[in-house]
Amino acid sequence: ALPQKVTLVEVGPRDGLQNEKTPVSTEHKAALVAMLQAAGLTEIEVTSFVSPKWVPQMADNLAVMAAIERRADVRYSVLTPNLKGLEAALLALPHEVVVFAAASEAFSQKNINCSITESIERFAPVVQAAHAAGIKVRGALSCALGCPYQGEVSLDEVERVARLMRAIGVDHLGVADTIGVGTPRRVQQALERALRYFPLAEVSGHFHDTYGQALANIYASLEVGVHTFDASVAGLGGCPYAKGATGNVATEDVVFMLNGLGIDTGVDIDRLVDAGAFISGVLGRAPVSRVARALLAK
Ligand code: HMG
Ligand code: MG
Repeated sequence: ALPQKVTLVEVGPRDGLQNEKTPVSTEHKAALVAMLQAAGLTEIEVTSFVSPKWVPQMADNLAVMAAIERRADVRYSVLTPNLKGLEAALLALPHEVVVFAAASEAFSQKNINCSITESIERFAPVVQAAHAAGIKVRGALSCALGCPYQGEVSLDEVERVARLMRAIGVDHLGVADTIGVGTPRRVQQALERALRYFPLAEVSGHFHDTYGQALANIYASLEVGVHTFDASVAGLGGCPYAKGATGNVATEDVVFMLNGLGIDTGVDIDRLVDAGAFISGVLGRAPVSRVARALLAK
């Protein structure tokens, strides 16, 4: 049987916006977060404490964290690639921080300017300091299904980096298909490798939809019991260091599928579509989400 309940981690404000060339104002970012939580999302990845030279769109990280109206029933997370990022993030009082490694050496170099081994060494004190502050640490494992630079990524390499992340105390692992090339059986195999080191409730799927496989991959993940997924409203997103990769699976599309399966997400799809229409309007384009387009055309 499939899980009866799914937790969605809304990554639109972070993954969704990080790739946008035109600066989105702090006010619009905070308004997006407000609409997402009003739609019933209880986990929101708000911003990144990364170098503003590398990702200019996230430069207003502290201002965004100060501008959001926090709700007691919502958990807010932020990306922290190193101690400098963590120290800045601590001022913003997130519930969770995210360190991000890759199962590909080439991608690790392009995205965070260091090898996989160096990244793990860099994350270890980040995890320690986050835990000392009572903050949970999620790890993202990029390129778990393929790499834009080196192509194939082996399951053994996925497992090796998952084990290293667990060894430094990372609490949760997000298996990420950065460029959206994964297909269902392969996704199940990658998740199974992660599940050797993390419990079912602490493994999630982060699927970009470049090749249109993301919903199928979520269904395949449900079959192995995984019940936490990242998704991005309106299908926004992409990684600046993964050229050509499109957005994450659209939250609207995931909620529509899960509603049809009778799986509870707590999300109101109409309010979610409003949030997607709002941010798409700010960006001057239509939502990528097929469900949003269909519902807006009604
Ligand atoms: P570096 O250049 O090697 O860092 O970058 P450095 O330690 O040598 O420092 C260089 C400069 O950056 C210094 O400033 C530091 O102070 C500053 P300067 O002295 O030149 O003025 N700096 C920082 N500033 C602000 N916040 C920080 C920070 N750290 C150093 N935290 C670094 C290394 C990791 C910082 C850089 O490569 C970086 O910021 N990378 C982030 C790239 C990124 O954000 N990618 C997108 C997010 S990951 C993603 O999208 C994938 C995911 O969605 C899953 C998936 O789909 O696969 C999660
Ligand atoms: Mg991503």
